[in-house]
Amino acid sequence: MTTHHERMIGDFYSEFPYPWHVARLARCGDPALYPALVSQEVGDYGHRRLPPDCRIWVPGCGVNQALMTALRFPAAHVVGSDVSEESLRMCAAAAEQVGAGNLELREEGIEGSPYREEFDYIVCTGVIHHNPDPGALLARLAAALRPEGLLELMVYNTFHRREITAFQEALRLIGHGQDVWSARRLAGSIDSDNQLTARLRAELHEPEIAFADTWLNPCERTFTVGGLHDLCAAAGLVLEAPCVSELAKASGAYSWELPVRDERLGGRLRALPDLVRWQVGNLLLFDRSPLLWFYLRRRDNPLPLAGEDERDEAFLDAVPTRVRATERVWLLEESGGYRPMDGERPVSEPAATAFPQLLADVDGRRTVRDLCGAPGGTMVRRMRAELATPAGPHLVARVAG
Ligand SMILES: C[S@@+](CC[C@H](N)C(=O)[O-])C[C@H]1O[C@@H](n2cnc3c(N)ncnc32)[C@H](O)[C@@H]1O
Repeated sequence: MTTHHERMIGDFYSEFPYPWHVARLARCGDPALYPALVSQEVGDYGHRRLPPDCRIWVPGCGVNQALMTALRFPAAHVVGSDVSEESLRMCAAAAEQVGAGNLELREEGIEGSPYREEFDYIVCTGVIHHNPDPGALLARLAAALRPEGLLELMVYNTFHRREITAFQEALRLIGHGQDVWSARRLAGSIDSDNQLTARLRAELHEPEIAFADTWLNPCERTFTVGGLHDLCAAAGLVLEAPCVSELAKASGAYSWELPVRDERLGGRLRALPDLVRWQVGNLLLFDRSPLLWFYLRRRDNPLPLAGEDERDEAFLDAVPTRVRATERVWLLEESGGYRPMDGERPVSEPAATAFPQLLADVDGRRTVRDLCGAPGGTMVRRMRAELATPAGPHLVARVAG
């Protein structure tokens, strides 16, 4: 079932299927690796939070996300759903080429989705903010989550989107709607030097699909950490932990910790509850604060909820081993098809990592604390993000003993 708005957003993303086919697809050879990395990111070094044979839902999956998830979690059953027929068709074509037998695609809107406590892991990024009532969709996601499940959610950060939402609204008022040609003409002819036109000029010649996704979207809501917290609370969910996305890691803007020169102030900030510290980071890092990308849990989840300090301590006390898993890789060709590369590639490319010494010292016996003491400030948080998450898949760390 789809609502009127969902049909409109589905038509938009069928005309502009964004993101386009990803350049590289990879199937992980170790089905336990990514479930362990996700568990670690929420502080579970017993790796029980997400079993390899879990059930995963990727609502609003677009062209790639459900397939990429199915390849990373090859022992899981992955359901991808979307209202864009064309995005689903492109996803299905790619899935067939790489033989992803654990992926099921459904053309279905989130608002009328029928799931009740069915999924261990739900990944919904860049989706609910394109709907007029994101809270109603979040309630559907909450209903579909098993009591101990994990929801990975990303919504737009208000401080990243001011120029974009202003332009979208002006387009609607002028009556240009989703007409790329008129939008580009308007964008190129505003005779004013301001923050909006500077950003527009920088993005004016982006490929049509990317330009449309940003500047022409028919509906966009944005959030602060505080606003997202309220939205979650109304849906019976709580923010559990920040998620380091590959996107944010590549740009270096993934940390919610506000760097300050004054040590006493730094100490005061570190003592704040996680949610308040993330809010302060959001407000004062402003446009350099991360995407609002978090792991959420149901409020009635019976498992203990760790805070950031406890996650740091659990990491320091865990025994890390290097990730040795390999993956099968396919590259996108100009024809639009995927071509397999010969042989297998390592999942972890240590040459490209931060903390190379720690990686070199890892011996499968000593804890992180044995290997590097207890680094101060926010260093442990950076280590976790860079080395022991799906975005930094270099270490699997287990509870000692
Ligand atoms: C910007 S794309 C993001 C795709 C994917 N989540 C990713 O991160 O690559 C947004 C997608 O969400 C889908 N979408 C938006 N609202 C939806 C809804 N209510 N139900 C199902 N899909 C929806 C759109 O059709 C589109 O494919």
